[in-house]
Amino acid sequence: MPATDQQLTEPAMGPAEALSELFTPAGKHNPYPLYDALWELGPVIPLGPSGTLVLGYDEICAALRDPRFLVTDAAVHRTTGMIDHSSWQCFTKIMMFSNSPDHERMRRFAAWAYSPRQITERRRLAARAAERWTTHLATLDADGGPIDLVETFATRVPISVTGDLLGVPEADRLELRTAITATTTAFEPVFDPDELLPADAGMDVLVDYLDDLVRERRRRPGDDLVSAMVRDRDADGALSEEELVASLVMFLIAGVQSPSDLIGNTVRLALNHPSEGRGMTADDDLVPAFVTETLRFDPPNHVLTRSAETDIDFHGHRVAAGSRALLVLAAANRDPRQFADPARFDVTRKDNRPLSFGLGPHYCLGAAFARMQVEMAVPVLLSRFPHLSLAAPPTYRDQLVTRGFARMEVMLGTT
Ligand code: HEM
Repeated sequence: MPATDQQLTEPAMGPAEALSELFTPAGKHNPYPLYDALWELGPVIPLGPSGTLVLGYDEICAALRDPRFLVTDAAVHRTTGMIDHSSWQCFTKIMMFSNSPDHERMRRFAAWAYSPRQITERRRLAARAAERWTTHLATLDADGGPIDLVETFATRVPISVTGDLLGVPEADRLELRTAITATTTAFEPVFDPDELLPADAGMDVLVDYLDDLVRERRRRPGDDLVSAMVRDRDADGALSEEELVASLVMFLIAGVQSPSDLIGNTVRLALNHPSEGRGMTADDDLVPAFVTETLRFDPPNHVLTRSAETDIDFHGHRVAAGSRALLVLAAANRDPRQFADPARFDVTRKDNRPLSFGLGPHYCLGAAFARMQVEMAVPVLLSRFPHLSLAAPPTYRDQLVTRGFARMEVMLGTT
């Protein structure tokens, strides 16, 4: 799997070295050559008694569909002590980190909020946010200097859309945005419990905020998602009060962080591939194919974790009960058995089915909502600023599980 768009300058390395490099800042910055090196060990790589790394497409599909591979729920996090942290206290109350039967109960409760009808109604909000923030960019460009597109656009569109949906006042949104990004650091492998402190601090902000919002909407219901969820919860008691707040926290985090990272990645690839990317307009048939190929080539979430419920014979390897399986979605998206010439960014791929939204019972509920925002925002940006260019190589946050740009300096090209 040679890398093209994302070449490391260092020479190729062996698999053992690649593994120890993966969760270092350099590895997170550009993991693709490391996935290439690891691929030489095969699609399933035993890491000793505590874990297994899975890189292959079919193998990850099998694990995601296999009920013996559990998500890391409260029981798992109790054994590691992570449950004592406010970040994991909240995360283990949401469907993403719950197993059967709680998972089904929570997914059933929230499903309507992700229905096609809801997505259609949200298109108007996404169009308004895309217009608003491109117009705002134009006002910032008065001196023609570089502008950080993460700060001024990629994060702003999703926080506007999700903020409008939840009824979060404009004045509160920027503080929440910082807290949201901080919470996602909890998904990284933790070598020292203190590494969870920023995520805990971010989570405290979000839980306090949504707890207050729930109380307020219970007193004075409005025409927003929080009011609707409070009404449903109070009518049937399907969720506890803490689970309700946690699901809203999750809606806010998922609604903002990964869509924002996907906007950044899509813009960057559009600039790298101008013949396909530059001409994108909102009603163009190319846009969904471009976003799908971005999701394959450079997804916002690289790794999912599962915990083996029992000993599992898995593609010729034994996965021990209680051990972790790290499913590297971003590597599976470049599995040469599934994608021809996988290191090539190719918007004309047929049957392009990356694993970036997961698969099986935990398949992303927000996939259509996320895609809709990105497919709306990126073409509006590119058609308003046809000479947009990178002013410097983008820098990444120090994260691999939820990976995205920390900064993306661009020139708008209007002067
Ligand atoms: C580009 C954007 C997004 C990406 C790449 C993404 C990716 C994922 C992935 C990989 C999973 C599976 C987790 C697992 O199996 O352990 C997932 C689950 C989930 N996502 Fe997303 N997501 C995105 C946007 C969103 C949005 C906008 C929302 C809602 C506002 C959302 C809500 C959820 C929920 C509720 C789940 C849990 C489903 C379950 O456990 O049954 N996601 N997402």
